[in-house]
Order: sequence, then C-alpha cells, then structure tokens
Amino acid sequence: MKKNKISKNWQNKQKRDIYFKKSKAQGYRSRSAFKLIEMNNKFNFIKSSTLLLDLGSSPGGWSHVASKKITNGKILAVDIKFMEKIKDVDFINEDFSFEETHKKIINHFKLKIDVVLSDMAANTSGNKSLDSYKTGELCLKSMVLASKILKNDGVFLSKFFMGSIFQEIKEKANKCFKKVINYKPLSSKKESKEIYIYCKGILKPFNFHNL
Ligand SMILES: C[S@@+](CC[C@H](N)C(=O)[O-])C[C@H]1O[C@@H](n2cnc3c(N)ncnc32)[C@H](O)[C@@H]1O
Repeated sequence: MKKNKISKNWQNKQKRDIYFKKSKAQGYRSRSAFKLIEMNNKFNFIKSSTLLLDLGSSPGGWSHVASKKITNGKILAVDIKFMEKIKDVDFINEDFSFEETHKKIINHFKLKIDVVLSDMAANTSGNKSLDSYKTGELCLKSMVLASKILKNDGVFLSKFFMGSIFQEIKEKANKCFKKVINYKPLSSKKESKEIYIYCKGILKPFNFHNL
C-alpha cells in the first residue's frame, strides 16, 4: 500500500476512534490523556500537592490532565519535541537522557518528588521489534532517573511495548521498587503491544552497573 494511502487510512481510523473523539470534545491535545485519567482512577497517585515530572510530554495530554488535579504542587514536562504552553506546567525542550537535562530537572524541583511519568516512545523505524526495544530502553533509563529523584513512597509510571525487553524491565523494576504492576488501560489500543508499568515505593536507587 502506498504511503499516503496508509496515512489516509490511519486518519480515518483515528476519526472513528472513541477516545480520539472524546479528546477533541474535552479539549485534550491527545487521546493519551484518557490513559492517564484511567490509570490515575485505578492507582490514585496524582494529588493536589504532587510534584510531578512528565517525560515525553508533547503534545501535552498527560500534562494537561495532571494540571487539572495539581493545584498546589509542581509539574515539569520534558520532550525533544516542542510543546505549546499549558497553564501551570513548566517545560524543558530537550532530550531527557542528557546529563544537563537531569541537572535542570533536579534544580527545578530542589526536593525529591512524588511522581515520574514516562509516556516516551522511540521514533518509529518500520522495524516493530527494534522500535519496541528502543522504547523499552527509554523506560529503563527513565526508571534509573526516577529511582534517584523520587521520594521513598514515590510513583514511577512508564510506557513500554511488550517484547524482548520486558523481562529486563520487570527484573529491574522489582529490584528497585516495592510494588510493581503491569497495566494496560482500556484506552490503549487492543492491537498495540503498548503496556504500562506502575511502580511504587523505592527499595534502592540503581544504575545499570550495580545490577
Ligand atoms: C506518545 S508521545 C507522548 C504523548 C503525551 N503523553 C501526551 O499525552 O500528549 C511520546 C513522546 O516521547 C517523546 N520522546 C521520545 N524520546 C524522548 C527523549 N529521549 N526525551 C524526551 N522526549 C522523548 C517524543 O518526542 C514524543 O513526543
């Protein structure tokens, strides 16, 4: 199938999608917003005073959802792609994995924080297993950062794709956090291997060398 036909089909599918329609109706920038709403309804981790880091925030669905709940805390969003301003959300337009970005994040909050979210996905290359592996690596790197900057009872929630890297993510999460749950929201497309890992309570900060 030709490239613009595939893209037309994708656009038509999107328009029929119930969460896409809901996101338009409710003024969210992405259908992903409903994944966070659903996961927060289940795990109840975003409170009015939460200090929250949103990695891979653009176009801004998750940050928008968080900003409706957090009235007395702080939200910092990070993405390589630009994100239009959301009220009460600060934004760093950089790759989250740079040492410099870590320093800016730590400096921004100045305290240990409550929640680290990652909805990051690697750029698609056409090779699904490679893409899922790369997104898994983003999950692992954000887990390392989370384990260093979260409060003892903090929450790390990250996207990954079920595939070859799953075992490694699970093992590292279990070494690092007290509670680890895999969760697929109803709003995550059934045909997608996308899944989220919810982790709560730091056991110990880790880096890749001491595992
Ligand atoms: C699925 S989108 C996130 C959607 C967002 N949660 C929302 O609700 O609108 C994934 C994002 O991850 C970002 N991303 C991928 N790798 C990244 C990296 N190394 N650092 C920062 N952002 C990254 C992409 O630029 C993309 O905007």
